[in-house]
Amino acid sequence: MCGIIGYLGHQLAKDILLDGLKKLEYRGYDSAGLCILNDGQFFIDKKVGPVVQLEQSVANQEIISTTGIAHTRWATHGAPSENNAHPHFDCHGQIAVVHNGIIENYQALKEVLISEGHQFQSETDSEVLAHLIEKFYTDNLETAVTKALALVEGSYGLVVLSIKENKLVAVRQSSPLIIGVGVGETFVASDIPAILNYTKQVIYLNDNDLAIIDSQGYHLQNLAGQVVDRQVEEVKLNVEQIEKKGFKHFMLKEIFEQPQTISNVLAGRVKDGQIKLSIDLDLSRLKRIIIAACGTSWHSALIGKYLLENIARIPVEVDYASEFRYRQPLVSDTDLFVAISQSGETADTLAALREAKRQGAQTIAIVNVVGSTVTREVDSGIYLHAGPEIGVASTKAFTAQVTALILLALYLRQLVGQPLDDGLLADLNQLPEIVATTLSLNNQLADLAAQFYHTDHFLYLGRGLNFPVALEGALKLKEISYIHAEGYPAAEIKHGPIALVDENMPVVFLATKNDLSDKIISNIQEIKARGGRIIAVVDQDYDHIAELADHLIRVPVVNVLLSPIVNAIPLQLLAYHIADYKGLDVDKPRNLAKSVTVE
Ligand code: F6R
Repeated sequence: MCGIIGYLGHQLAKDILLDGLKKLEYRGYDSAGLCILNDGQFFIDKKVGPVVQLEQSVANQEIISTTGIAHTRWATHGAPSENNAHPHFDCHGQIAVVHNGIIENYQALKEVLISEGHQFQSETDSEVLAHLIEKFYTDNLETAVTKALALVEGSYGLVVLSIKENKLVAVRQSSPLIIGVGVGETFVASDIPAILNYTKQVIYLNDNDLAIIDSQGYHLQNLAGQVVDRQVEEVKLNVEQIEKKGFKHFMLKEIFEQPQTISNVLAGRVKDGQIKLSIDLDLSRLKRIIIAACGTSWHSALIGKYLLENIARIPVEVDYASEFRYRQPLVSDTDLFVAISQSGETADTLAALREAKRQGAQTIAIVNVVGSTVTREVDSGIYLHAGPEIGVASTKAFTAQVTALILLALYLRQLVGQPLDDGLLADLNQLPEIVATTLSLNNQLADLAAQFYHTDHFLYLGRGLNFPVALEGALKLKEISYIHAEGYPAAEIKHGPIALVDENMPVVFLATKNDLSDKIISNIQEIKARGGRIIAVVDQDYDHIAELADHLIRVPVVNVLLSPIVNAIPLQLLAYHIADYKGLDVDKPRNLAKSVTVE
């Protein structure tokens, strides 16, 4: 959510900032701006729209400076506009600020600052930071930033540049920031891809860490002015992983990566009929599991409930992370709290995790991004190793999360001495190949998309484990194609939503064979009788509904507990191709951002 990059070194800041912004665009793309300290003056440019607009605008500008900051925005306070784009400045244009997060008390601060004569140019909460720093600035930027932040409530990943000092000051509070350490150059960014072309040596800042970056390198302290020591870590990502490699969109590339990413989740974790997870917790008193997550990760959590209750026979509750702490949950030390997050930075998921820890639960996280905040706060973790997910719509992270949940369920079953189902383990080992076979449906789904991309509404229906898959299919479609779509448990449709069905309504049924197949057939009949157009995802060898469905999508036969993973693939492809037919920017859907670091 919003991308930040700052640079101080010996290369042209303009090039590094623009390159970094392009890598960060998936975090927000309403507007972009930069400020470069050029020959004792600020060179400033801001543009509404994607980074390419900014790039074109500065292309012919000669800016030889090697110090600057830049930002790509996902609007929270104030519509996308040049005035609201970052950087923001103090009254005299001497202090530039780029900010991720939310300043919760900005109204009160703004009123005081206005009464003191400060003049604001934007509607953003972020601009108060520039004026507050101005208020306290005499001759030392870090002192002014520290004094200003003492008055601020909220979250910030913040980088500040002053015209008077060739230095950057960066501070983190609940919004990720990293320092990239190069030779004779230092970077600061909200996310690793921004700096990966230049260095793999990074420092993950903790909350309250303040970094001073100047020509000597970097110095770390906390907001109380005490020196802090943070390790420089080597990032394992490489630049190739954040490129499209011939695919039209990152989303399509990531859909096609799933055989590999599922294989990465499984690697070394299923051995000799046993599940190996490095979970260093005492689970002997475990009575209940609580899972909290948002969006697609919440759909994984719902599938996780089915898996954990079915395989490990432990009661599971699933919460939207954004609701969890506000419903005054009752948590105890016999609970295991599981946070699921691709990014490991989602503000609500982090807050839920902290609440569960505060009440004494043991905690596990299922996370993709190595080194993210969730991974540093949790007791134990299961990394997905799915590689960077750049497409804003989550695909490979989802199937990796469900795979990790199967492993967790099997692990907990094993822990209480129950035997594991050899057939399930065998299918699990085959899963990467099964998913590869499923991907060969791509052309069929593209053809289907060609027939349906003009549609205004879609329904997705499933039962049991595949009800959350219906939710996920609907979410994928609406977020990238802007078609209204809803997911329901198939039987629930009779209790209201069936009123929506007419001959224009496509209804996607997840109808792979299971204990509820007969009931699903009845549900299909109900829709068919109302003229709905049935698209059925079925097993390859399942002919019962051939005559009922208008379109059959035949997926490989697999253990029912693994069917959510296989069934998700055609739904991802359908959403992708519909959005592509509509000519939409699949990787950067309107109003969205990849990682939601504000509440
Ligand atoms: C949808 C999507 C979002 C995320 C949600 C949680 O395609 O990507 O719904 O799943 O914002 O993000 P993480 O998993 O990073 O916590």
